[in-house]
Amino acid sequence: MIVDSVLTNAKAYIDNELKNCSIAIDNAKIFKVSTETHMPKSDEKINLKNFLVFPGLIDSHVHLRDEEKSYKEDFYTGTAAAAAGGFTTVLDMPNNRPTTLTVELLRNRMNLAQNRILVNVGFYSEFPNDLGEVPQIIRQGAVAFKLFMAHQIGGLNIDNDGLIKEALMKIKDLDSILAVHAEDKDLLMKNEQKLKNQNRADLNAFFQAHSEEVENIAIERMLKLNKEIGAHIHFCHLTTKIGLDQIIEAKKSGLRITCEVTPNHLFLTQNDSNYYGSLIIMMPPLRSKINVAALMKAIKSNQVDTLGSDHAPHTKKEKIGINVWDVKVGLPGLETTLPLLLTMVNEHQISIGDIVRLLSENPAKIFKLSNIGYIKKGKNADLTVIDLKKKYKIDVSKFHSKAKFSPYNGWEVKGKPVKTFVNGSLIMDEQKIIAKMGSGSILRRN
Ligand code: DOR
Ligand code: ZN
Ligand code: ZN
Repeated sequence: MIVDSVLTNAKAYIDNELKNCSIAIDNAKIFKVSTETHMPKSDEKINLKNFLVFPGLIDSHVHLRDEEKSYKEDFYTGTAAAAAGGFTTVLDMPNNRPTTLTVELLRNRMNLAQNRILVNVGFYSEFPNDLGEVPQIIRQGAVAFKLFMAHQIGGLNIDNDGLIKEALMKIKDLDSILAVHAEDKDLLMKNEQKLKNQNRADLNAFFQAHSEEVENIAIERMLKLNKEIGAHIHFCHLTTKIGLDQIIEAKKSGLRITCEVTPNHLFLTQNDSNYYGSLIIMMPPLRSKINVAALMKAIKSNQVDTLGSDHAPHTKKEKIGINVWDVKVGLPGLETTLPLLLTMVNEHQISIGDIVRLLSENPAKIFKLSNIGYIKKGKNADLTVIDLKKKYKIDVSKFHSKAKFSPYNGWEVKGKPVKTFVNGSLIMDEQKIIAKMGSGSILRRN
């Protein structure tokens, strides 16, 4: 038999260790992992020169935009940024225009994406107006539901505890998962109003409005509502020590609770706003060093389940030089996440195993994407190839994302994604996109 390709001289992360091996790929799947002498004949051979090979990395928190927000990012540029950043799968958040919250809108988004994406993409849905439609949205292939608690985005009235409980019961019964943006709308609105009445529009006013308490009480509310129900809740972009402690407590009680941290909340603190100004405004906001230390500790002790970039592209105009209350929140992250984390690996702050667990194995498990997350016979041939020793400076002008700004611009990093394989094809080589639009596929929760 002649397979499609064989990758030689790989240092691949398999069964919790790095193994020198070759990988045979056929029909978009991993066909065999063994030594070079045991490889089948192939149409193509690629020498990976002893670079690290990770199971394709998954960014489970990405805002790909497109549709009416395509001026910020579209399916092509967003997935090109993913490929360049070493991600083979991204999960797309539903706060689009129109908001992804019905079967039709989800199907339409999938159809639009199909021929434009370079990496694999799964889609979140917000809750529909009628919870009766939840099963159809799952059948259409939503990887998860998202509940945004900071203001009303989806069809589920976030002021109504009874309805949230009903939604949680559906999630539980249908074996789905609810990802939550935990910031309490009422307290946030109250804080904002008070500060606006004092004519405050400085950066600190934003931080005060989005206080730690705003996040903590939203987490508390969700955990309480879910206590008797026991649906799988995945808390997005956790930033506070108290929030984290509540989640650790809930996990201990046996509830299916998982959580995510973003690199922004590890690499930056509120003090950095003195330098970066409104650029670094995001929700939830940057926090103090004490919180960062708690998040780092939780990452190292296995209490954080995923790292997500929260890639949130905007135009520069939407970020700078306007009233703080009107600044669009978030940063592009697909092209900075992996180099920043590899730099941490080089500094012995986290391990290679942490990266694979947090950005591949765990997201695959949590979102039930059974074909990805591991380098193993039969799995998708999605692979991220890394030069761990490569030093370079982050340069926003080279971003594939439309959002060409970042607080990390000019930062010296060590560790670079050099090749990205999706469904067996090399789609990114030395930061160049070499695949055609449409080489990614739509992933559905299994
Ligand atoms: O910083 C953020 N950006 N937080 C959010 O919750 C939304 C996101 C976006 O869509 O821009
Ligand atoms: Zn969010
Ligand atoms: Zn987000």
